[in-house]
Amino acid sequence: TYVVTDNCIMCKYTDCVEVCPVDCFYEGENTLVIHPDECIDCGVCEPECPADAIRPDTEPAMESWVAFNRKYADQWPVITRKKEPLPGYQAMDGLPGKLEKYFS
Ligand code: SF4
Ligand code: F3S
Repeated sequence: TYVVTDNCIMCKYTDCVEVCPVDCFYEGENTLVIHPDECIDCGVCEPECPADAIRPDTEPAMESWVAFNRKYADQWPVITRKKEPLPGYQAMDGLPGKLEKYFS
């Protein structure tokens, strides 16, 4: 599966949702997640994210991100249309520690 990671938080560019063939992106207030059980591993969303936040779970230490994506995909509504990024997204893009700051 692919998953959304830290750098989506407080940015939410949403370019990713338009290309997903199975509509498996889910939207929270501060970030998006991918449902790991619905993602068909096509990989087309990865290069679409300007924040480079979408990663394959074959990369090291991705278990916690898979769990994070699964947890919130079960709770949040699906999103299939691109919308404006969050206000202040430029300043937030690349900021370290966003998970700890906004999800603790
Ligand atoms: Fe959707 Fe493909 Fe991205 Fe999975 S890898 S979330 S199926 S676009
Ligand atoms: Fe987030 Fe990147 Fe999509 S910032 S909303 S994963 S395009």
